[in-house]
Amino acid sequence: MLNKRYAPITAAVVILLVIAAVGYTRTKAKTDMPVRILFKNNGGNVIFSHLVHHRNYQIACAKCHHEMTSEQDKALACGSCHPVSFDEQYVENHKSSFPEKKYCIQCHHIEYEHLIFDHDEHIEFADDNCQACHHGEDIEPEPGQCSECHEDMESDEIPSLAMAAHKRCQSCHEDMFDQGLTSCTTCHQAVDMTQYSGDFSSCGQCHDVKTKDLVLERMNAFHEQCMDCHEREGKGPYGENSCFKCHIR
Ligand code: HEC
Ligand code: HEC
Ligand code: HEC
Ligand code: HEC
Ligand code: HEC
Ligand code: HEC
Ligand code: HEC
Ligand code: HEC
Ligand code: HEC
Ligand code: HEC
Repeated sequence: MLNKRYAPITAAVVILLVIAAVGYTRTKAKTDMPVRILFKNNGGNVIFSHLVHHRNYQIACAKCHHEMTSEQDKALACGSCHPVSFDEQYVENHKSSFPEKKYCIQCHHIEYEHLIFDHDEHIEFADDNCQACHHGEDIEPEPGQCSECHEDMESDEIPSLAMAAHKRCQSCHEDMFDQGLTSCTTCHQAVDMTQYSGDFSSCGQCHDVKTKDLVLERMNAFHEQCMDCHEREGKGPYGENSCFKCHIR
């Protein structure tokens, strides 16, 4: 027999247990996130208090998982996009590292489709001199598409399509190339990437810099994300002398 005196307490405990259980399964189903993470690495292992960072320090998932553009998105391992290095092995394997194609376009962020170019008008601008852009008969027996011979990548004998075409256009449009990457859309129509279903170009088609100068490699990605936030907040380890506040010797 239950003593009447304890009934309200028992009831309260039962209610709290139910709330806790519901809350637990709810968050579990929605987030499925690790409590803490052990990183084994050459600097000394790091133990990261994942759950505490989210719950106690009140940091939203997307602050760290910046690939998450909505609550429903999966949180991916940082290394799927910030590998130890962007080498051949990465290129070979990375196409199957993502659950959906929408993650691809965080890096493959732009493709060009149509050329904005009025050919007839340009024949006038060039005073009917086809060779302002085309080759002479020795190379091009008849003027045609530059892409018939010039390919994505340059070879020993022949420059890439972009390099070849740009060189000709530049002879009259130096100004259009002066502003670097911001001016490309005067001649190129960019595709809506959320609808895009074609293949992806390599970064080097448009960027002169190495990929690691565009997207951080693994160690720098971690160091920058962890320490930039700590420095901004003035809390948690950052700076030259903080190494062993994260790395266990
Ligand atoms: C303070 C930064 C931070 C916050 C906030 C955070 N995470 Fe993470 N999370 C990480 C890091 C760092 C990893 C380790 C990723 C790795 O191993 O490359 C990780 C790993 C994960 C993983 C495992 C991914 C895998 O495939 O290895 C999941 C799932 C995850 N987080 C979900 C979440 C969810 C959901 C939230 C919000 C409720 C959240 N995280 C909040 C930083 C954070
Ligand atoms: C789906 C791919 C993807 C995933 C997953 C990803 N990143 Fe990134 N990250 C990028 C790209 C692309 C950039 C560079 C472009 C930009 O700044 O948005 C970047 C930029 C960064 C930067 C530079 C500063 C900034 O915030 O723009 C840091 C730091 C960083 N990532 C850390 C991380 C960490 C740590 C994780 C895991 C918790 C992570 N990233 C997961 C793709 C990803
Ligand atoms: C200002 C540079 C320029 C001049 C001048 C020029 N062309 Fe072109 N031409 C191009 C480019 C660039 C292409 C490829 C267009 C494309 O990919 O849409 C092209 C393509 C062509 C094509 C292939 C069209 C097709 O749809 O297959 C022919 C044929 C052609 N040109 C003939 C000529 C002739 C003939 C002249 C001279 C009367 C001339 N062009 C002058 C730049 C030029
Ligand atoms: C029939 C094949 C063919 C077509 C079509 C062609 N090219 Fe070329 N192009 C070549 C070859 C081969 C070379 C390398 C030989 C050389 O350097 O003279 C070359 C080299 C070039 C070069 C570097 C050398 C130079 O002449 O300054 C430029 C620039 C160039 N092409 C622009 C164009 C443009 C622009 C078009 C289209 C309007 C075009 N090419 C169409 C075959 C072609
Ligand atoms: C012989 C000189 C000459 C060459 C070579 C030339 N253009 Fe032009 N282009 C002109 C002139 C002149 C105009 C009209 C005036 C202006 O807008 O600058 C023009 C206008 C344009 C415009 C419209 C500009 C705007 O602001 O709306 C585009 C796009 C263009 N050209 C693309 C090209 C492309 C692509 C090439 C190389 C295949 C090329 N041009 C090569 C002379 C040239
Ligand atoms: C004056 C006009 C003009 C400007 C400005 C211009 N391009 Fe181009 N680009 C062309 C032409 C013409 C071609 C050859 C297209 C063809 O014949 O199909 C081309 C080709 C390319 C290609 C090869 C496309 C393919 O299908 O393989 C790339 C990549 C490219 N351009 C990138 C750029 C970038 C990045 C910028 C900005 C820095 C830029 N272009 C600015 C005219 C221009
Ligand atoms: C973290 C950035 C990143 C993400 C996310 C990413 N890629 Fe890549 N991808 C690269 C890099 C870097 C290369 C190496 C070649 C280069 O320098 O562009 C590459 C190369 C490629 C190439 C070869 C391009 C060529 O012709 O050289 C294809 C195809 C490709 N990726 C498809 C995908 C697909 C499909 C996805 C999504 C499932 C994806 N990528 C996600 C960065 C990324
Ligand atoms: C078709 C041309 C093109 C290709 C291919 C391309 N980019 Fe870009 N990228 C641009 C242009 C144009 C900008 C500047 C304007 C903008 O942000 O759209 C840019 C800007 C960026 C930026 C912003 C920082 C900066 O330096 O301006 C990053 C990061 C970046 N690209 C990464 C990549 C990576 C990684 C790849 C390959 C996976 C890639 N891009 C492939 C054209 C391209
Ligand atoms: C968006 C902000 C943010 C990011 C990103 C972040 N932290 Fe923190 N971290 C904090 C805050 C805030 C504290 C301090 C809480 C306090 O002192 O009250 C903290 C404290 C810490 C501490 C000391 C206390 C504890 O919980 O262990 C360590 C160690 C730590 N962080 C490691 C990391 C690592 C490793 C990463 C990257 C994987 C990381 N943090 C990313 C905000 C962040
Ligand atoms: C806020 C926590 C934090 C601080 C402070 C920190 N690191 Fe790290 N460090 C990490 C994390 C997280 C990783 C990534 C572990 C992984 O790759 O799995 C890492 C990785 C490394 C690596 C491994 C590289 C590899 O390829 O294995 C080295 C080396 C390193 N850090 C050195 C340092 C040095 C030196 C300092 C002090 C200047 C420092 N770290 C400060 C968190 C930290």
